[in-house]
Amino acid sequence: MARRALVDGFELDDDPARIDVDAVHRFISDESYWGVGRPRELVERAIRNSARVMGLYRGTEQVGFARAVSDRTIIAYLADVYVLAEFRGRGLGLELVREMIDGGPFEGLTWVLHTASQQKLYEKVGFKSQFVYPLMERRRRKVDGEAPYRSP
Ligand SMILES: CC(C)(COP(=O)(O)OP(=O)(O)OC[C@H]1O[C@@H](n2cnc3c(N)ncnc32)[C@H](O)[C@@H]1OP(=O)(O)O)[C@@H](O)C(=O)NCCC(=O)NCCS
Repeated sequence: MARRALVDGFELDDDPARIDVDAVHRFISDESYWGVGRPRELVERAIRNSARVMGLYRGTEQVGFARAVSDRTIIAYLADVYVLAEFRGRGLGLELVREMIDGGPFEGLTWVLHTASQQKLYEKVGFKSQFVYPLMERRRRKVDGEAPYRSP
């Protein structure tokens, strides 16, 4: 488990038990551009099944989040990265992503992610936009037994 204190009382922690699922769900479902309407149950399951999660906290309040999906051997996918709006622009997002990757258990793997606008942030931790092969996707569909939901 990794825990790191930042300036002004902020703290990073990769303890999955500390994640405030309601807070993560609120942001992803209401404010993110990629997961609007995502049901809480899917947010909870995605967190539970992630290889690693990273929470950003100020005291007991969770103010940011990121998670990694990985085979723990070859590749890791960085997902659901956010910092609440009132805490942006002071370096916390970069520290959140850095803590997830640098010095972590998956540091040496190939990391991939999608981003609409944050290329500069991710370039600071080594991501590059050019890739050797084209990126292809098969978009998520409804899984048996789930309420209707399609990620945008
Ligand atoms: C993307 C996101 C997580 C970044 O979080 P953040 O805390 O604002 O990130 P940072 O402060 O580390 O960096 C953001 C910018 O602030 C600048 N910055 C860093 N430290 C700073 C400081 N002390 N004072 C002012 N600005 C600062 C950075 O240079 C960066 O700008 P640049 O990339 O143009 O150079 C946040 O904007 C967010 O949650 N956005 C909505 C969700 C989203 O888009 N998530 C990413 C999906 S891929």
